[in-house]
Amino acid sequence: MSVKDEVLKELENNKGDYISGGQLADNLGVSRNSVWKAIKALEKSGYEINAIPNKGYCLAEKNDILSSYSIKQHLKNPHLDISVFSSVTSTNTILKEMAEQGAKEGTVIIAEEQTAGRGRTGKQFYSPKGTGIYISILLRPDIPAEESLFLTTSAAVATARAIEDVSDKRALIKWVNDIYLEDKKACGILTEGAFNVETGKLDYAIVGIGINVCIPDGGFPDNIKDIATAIFDKQTDSINKRSILIANLLDYFMEYYKDFKSKSYVKEYIERSMIIGKTITVIEGSKTSVAKAIDIDKNCRLKVQFEDGTTKWLSSGEVSTKIHK
Ligand code: BTN
Repeated sequence: MSVKDEVLKELENNKGDYISGGQLADNLGVSRNSVWKAIKALEKSGYEINAIPNKGYCLAEKNDILSSYSIKQHLKNPHLDISVFSSVTSTNTILKEMAEQGAKEGTVIIAEEQTAGRGRTGKQFYSPKGTGIYISILLRPDIPAEESLFLTTSAAVATARAIEDVSDKRALIKWVNDIYLEDKKACGILTEGAFNVETGKLDYAIVGIGINVCIPDGGFPDNIKDIATAIFDKQTDSINKRSILIANLLDYFMEYYKDFKSKSYVKEYIERSMIIGKTITVIEGSKTSVAKAIDIDKNCRLKVQFEDGTTKWLSSGEVSTKIHK
């Protein structure tokens, strides 16, 4: 860990209390000058640190910048290698490049902002700074490519649970990859990967999760303002919650992943479904049809009944759905 990270860790452990430069230097076995340089570097990264002569430094309570340390404080799984960035193009894109270069399973990239966040079916994912969580997890599962749907669905259950841990809202799942709070979308999941043509198995998979934690100042942009929501109404309500949310999400997800074959989470996926019984538009490529969502089976396929009475089991891929109001 760098001196900067070590100082941050000490300040986070004493959040709200003052700790002197000398004390920090002693605790970390470095010079006071190194501590001073680390404080300056942290301020440059956006941390608000109060400094009082003869009293020392104090990380202001309102600091809510994510760090791998702030997440690890709450994380049970010791095997994840977490890096947090303030701004990236897309965490999925970056992690894909790392995967191609041999990054190991359990590598996790988190960003405060994405400038080119991506959703399913080529859509953009709105990813403003500081009000969301943009996270990608690299996995190297020994499974056929078609089983990757279960990575998405288990991530949906893990995310729904983690959201409920930090809020009093009920998190429901809109087949196949969206989390809804009070009838609006608060989270989307995009699983991407590469598969080995010879074995038909995945080389790697990247599970990308984007969560609207609080409503951005000025609200969501016009194109999504009627369909998007967030866990919290304002940024002050989410202070210190994002790290807990991420840690819990990762812990739940990795537990499901460890026992991937049992598909223990599928029951909960179905229970959390908000689509059953609703009239929907099914979009398959350029074809759209109106149908009723009837059922979800243990393989997380959605059974729909079209207006002519015929039924069909849909299994994600490039299928998407819109619920009618
Ligand atoms: C969707 O709504 O269709 C899926 C959205 C997935 C967004 C996440 S944010 C982290 C990761 N990086 C991306 O560019 N996309 C995913």
